[in-house]
Formats: sequence, structure tokens, C-alpha cells
Amino acid sequence: MSKTQTTILAIETSCDDTSIAILEFNKFGQSEVISTFTNSQISKHKKYGGVYPELASREHLNNILPVLKTTLKEYSIIKNLKLKTKNIIDSIDYMAITCGPGLIGSLLVGTETAKTLAYIFKKPVILVNHLEGHIYSNFINNSQKLDFPIVSLIASGGHTSLILMKNHLDYKIIGQTQDDAAGEAYDKVSEMLGLGYPGGPIIDKYARQFKQAKRSNNFNPLFPRPMLGSKNFDFSFSGLKTSVLYYLRNQKKPYSEKLKQKVAYEFQEAATDVLVKKTLKTAQKYKAKSILISGGVSANSKLREKMKQSLYRHTELDSNSLSVPELKFCTDNASMIAQVAYHKILAGKVNNWYDIKANASLDLNN
Ligand code: KG4
Ligand code: ZN
Repeated sequence: MSKTQTTILAIETSCDDTSIAILEFNKFGQSEVISTFTNSQISKHKKYGGVYPELASREHLNNILPVLKTTLKEYSIIKNLKLKTKNIIDSIDYMAITCGPGLIGSLLVGTETAKTLAYIFKKPVILVNHLEGHIYSNFINNSQKLDFPIVSLIASGGHTSLILMKNHLDYKIIGQTQDDAAGEAYDKVSEMLGLGYPGGPIIDKYARQFKQAKRSNNFNPLFPRPMLGSKNFDFSFSGLKTSVLYYLRNQKKPYSEKLKQKVAYEFQEAATDVLVKKTLKTAQKYKAKSILISGGVSANSKLREKMKQSLYRHTELDSNSLSVPELKFCTDNASMIAQVAYHKILAGKVNNWYDIKANASLDLNN
């Protein structure tokens, strides 16, 4: 990388978001998102109460080229390029692509598109794992100094893991969920309450409403904190989900707004207690200098607040050592994929179009 500026075009299609981004990195490694466009399929999957894989891949097929066109157009306007699409792609240095983990049909749309573009435009390719993308969402447009060792909590709809990083691109899984992911539990509880999909933002909102209505210091938890006292760093959310189910069985239907707020609040308290305490315990044990949170659940207002407040009490770290992604980078996006790619280029991990391969269960260290 001898140029003073590196331009990366990234594609992310691992689940239900068709996302493309073009990022520029200056010689100091600072990133800037020049243009990005994400097509969310939420409205299409809502009626199924979750992502319907077959529909997701068909939607990606419909969306990928329009998303590419919009992103390139915005890029050429912002950079005042006045070039044809072909020449815009020519001006980009690298392509980055999410190869997994995720839904295979969804991943294939992105990988085949990236393969075709990289072949035609003779672009070097960076292969990215979706989970490292989430971790690196913390480095986008971020001037915060994040020192190693880093402990990183990824909490999304498909994963809940604690990762130790002693250096860039070096991942050791310290703990993970034994059953449901945190986001999945949010989605299920929301479904039980009849609040719709995706559940995270709705439960977050209902929980905040409950807090405002009730002012009691007499905190008596309604739901358990699974594996909070266990010696390892793993999580479990399925028992918590079942507790909510059993509690609701004894409630009168249709559920009142007040009850929905109470359940949302109590569930969120339980889920965030476990996420925060396990993350801080890991940070203590591995003498972390920074803590990163990421994935859709990292958008949660309670998780962010609790993590910041508990930091002082449970570690020697202060709030400068805690990084939370900008809200728009919490859920799936291509900017985070470009951010990983930059670090892979620095490490010489550059491939060609024929190396691109989708893998639904791709390992973080592959
Ligand atoms: O990272 P993401 O977009 O996709 C996966 O890789 O899974 O995460 C989606 C998940 C969903 O389960 C959604 O309910 C959850 O993130 N989520 C939230 C919030 N916003 C999204 N969970 C809790 N609070 C939120 N504010
Ligand atoms: Zn994700």
C-alpha cells in the first residue's frame, strides 16, 4: 500500500440486509464512509416473525445491482468524478466481501456478485468473516484509542460471543451462547408479547416506558439471570425465554400495555445483567485495556448505559476504554466489512476472485 489513500468497496449480504459501502482510508488508517446504501428486508419478513431464508436470497437477487448502482452514483457525486459506472469501479483499489457465517442463499448472492466484479475489473479481493465485521464496526470513524488486549462482546440475532484479541485480526473465543443468541431472545419475547419483528428495538422502547411509569427502589427480579454465577464465560438465553413464556401463561389476554412494558423491562434487565457482568468478568480475567461491544443488540440503550456504569465498579477501566459502535453500524452493514478489509490489507491478507467462497458456518479464525 504505497498510495496515501486506499479505497475499498465492500459487499455484505449474509442475512436480510443487502448492503454496499465505499470507504476511504488515509495514510494514518483513518476511515471515512464516502457512500453506502443498505436495503433492509424487514418489511418483507415481518409476517413470518423472523428471517425467511428462501425469501431473503430472492430479495438479495432483486436488490444487489440497484444497491450497487446507488452506492456508486452517490460516490461519484460526492467525489465529483463525472465518470461512467465502469470507470468508477476502475478507480476503486480493493473489493471486500462477507463470506460467512450466515444464510447460504443470502451469502451466495453477495459472493457471486463480488466474484464477477473482481474478475471483470481485475480487483484484489479481501475475504471477511461477518463476525469480525461486527467487531470492527467499532473502528469506523472512531478516533478513540483502543489498546490491546481487547475484549469484544458480539451480541446479534445469530450470535452471542466473547472474543479476546491480543492484536488486530487475532481472535480467541472465550465464551459463547449455549443455545439462543441474545437478539434471538429479544425477538422471541417480542413475539410472545405480540409486539412484532425485530423485537430488540420494540422491547427497548417498551422497557423505557415502564421505567418512566414506575419509580420503585424495591427491585425484585421477575426473571432469572442464566449462567451469571457459572465459572465459565458462556451464555444461555433459552431458559430466560421460557421463564417469560411461563409468566405470560398466567396473565390475562389480551395483555395490557402496562404488562407488556413490565415484561419488556424485566426481561431486558435480566438479559443485559448477564451480558454486562460476563463481559466485565472476561475483561478482568484477561486484563483487557479496551472493551468493545457490537452486533444488533449493542444498539440497546440499557446495555450501553449499564456497561458504562458498571465499568468503574467491576474493572480498573474508565469510559475511554469502552467503545460502542455508532447506532447505524450496530446492525448489519457493509462499512464494517470494509473496515476489516483495511486491516487485512495491512497484514497482506489479499486474495483473488477465484478464492471467494461462501461458507454458512465460517469460523472466526478462517
Ligand atoms: O447484527 P444484526 O443486525 O444481525 C445479525 O447478524 O444477527 O442483529 C439483529 C438483532 C435482532 O435480533 C434484533 O432484535 C436485535 O439485533 N436488535 C436489538 C436492538 N436493535 C436490534 N436488540 C436489543 N435492543 C435493540 N435496540
Ligand atoms: Zn450481523
